[in-house]
Amino acid sequence: MSAIKTYIDQNKDRFINELIELLKIPSISADKAYKEAVLNTSEVVKLSLEKAGCSHVEICETPGYPIVYGEHIIDKNLPTVLVYGHYDVQPADPIDLWDSPPFEPVIKITAAHPDGAIYARGSCDDKGQMYMHVKAFEILIKQNSLPCNVKFMIEGEEEIGSSSLGWFVERNQEKLSNDVILISDTGMISNQQPSITTGLRGLSYVEVEVTGPNRDLHSGLYGGAVANPVNILTKMIASLHDENNHISIPGFYDKVIEATDEERTEMAKAPFSLEAYKEALDIQEVYGESGYTTNERNSIRPSLDVNGVWGGYIGEGAKTVIASKAYAKISMRLVPDQDPDEITALFTEHFNSLAPKSVKVKVTPHHGGHPYVTPIDNIGYKAANKAYTETFGVNAIPQRSGGSIPIVALFEKELKSKTILMGFGLDSDAIHSPNEHFGVFNYLKGIETIPLFYKYFTELFQELNQ
Ligand code: BES
Ligand code: MN
Ligand code: MN
Repeated sequence: MSAIKTYIDQNKDRFINELIELLKIPSISADKAYKEAVLNTSEVVKLSLEKAGCSHVEICETPGYPIVYGEHIIDKNLPTVLVYGHYDVQPADPIDLWDSPPFEPVIKITAAHPDGAIYARGSCDDKGQMYMHVKAFEILIKQNSLPCNVKFMIEGEEEIGSSSLGWFVERNQEKLSNDVILISDTGMISNQQPSITTGLRGLSYVEVEVTGPNRDLHSGLYGGAVANPVNILTKMIASLHDENNHISIPGFYDKVIEATDEERTEMAKAPFSLEAYKEALDIQEVYGESGYTTNERNSIRPSLDVNGVWGGYIGEGAKTVIASKAYAKISMRLVPDQDPDEITALFTEHFNSLAPKSVKVKVTPHHGGHPYVTPIDNIGYKAANKAYTETFGVNAIPQRSGGSIPIVALFEKELKSKTILMGFGLDSDAIHSPNEHFGVFNYLKGIETIPLFYKYFTELFQELNQ
């Protein structure tokens, strides 16, 4: 058994308990009511890096929540790995659908996780995955085997758009200089088949408001004679997809880079069972853009989804009313080379044009982000693959993901370095949903695999720079 594995075996209860303590703090960045908890979490993360042996750790203030920055520089001639993660989490609601309270972590055995999984908001996204890096670093320090320089940058606003991180990165290029960026904030195919995320979708997110009459009206006295904003809004939304489930906003696909037949053939080789997928979601049939497979639809193709819609009476019983206003929150996932600002502008123009004169429309853009795709012929990818191959016994498969980590494209632009996305979560871990969990196997496997990335990256870096 390797020294690393022995260390993990001897310390695994402590590793799990430390994560459980971190998960008890409700660091919900979206909700101001949790401000103290978010700030407190940054302190706990700082302390954990110090305890792991990081020689310099600081809390960097920003216009928003602080960034925890740490560095451990052992030799200027060695490569530097910059680890990014986030300590903020999504809101826990709908709270009623949790089987146990979101901030009272419990370990439960499941079919996907026979070794148990830790149930709590943020367990997988991203406290658990971020904390694997702290523990992997601890092992390398305690065993005196850290092969390279390491920098940590752990932020508290990922779930609300990372605007302070953008601000911070632009102002600290020197401090953040690195040879590769390493992130565990994505997933992998299964516990038997690791994968490396080679793409992320971008995001354009808007809120729309449709206003009809200046006040709520009796739906008998006025029904049929004035525009009902809820009727109009839902009709407008329905028209955003055509009969082939193509998005019907003019110009929306203009910059989409079509995957080649070779790329699509390669993608189709990844293990995937449509039957298991449908069964896990309890659906009879999947649904999406004609001409594309499920895995293409959720990764290399853009999408448009209503995330929330409201207006009118939703209380108990029936109230006969025509509401004055109706609202929706709409996200568009983007692929290279779509630009989030351009897409937001196209959406806004089109949405306004859909509205009849009987209503007023307001479109408010929220945060967005650029899509990202990374090649696999670089030493970062190769090092990650070697690390996975050693700990899982099989090669990792490159796979584009449908999720977004908007800051990754900015890292490339500002810091000129590639990002390697070594995620250890599973799609079934229910991130952002009730009953989010993270496998104990995945947590410990991550801690075991990360040090090997450092080792192989350093070796390949030195070979390349000899
Ligand atoms: N870690 C996720 C993104 C993710 C998860 C990417 C799984 C790939 C696989 C991240 O925390 C997240 O939730 N991002 C948001 C975007 C952000 C701007 C709120 C998303 O994708 O919705
Ligand atoms: Mn995340
Ligand atoms: Mn998230």
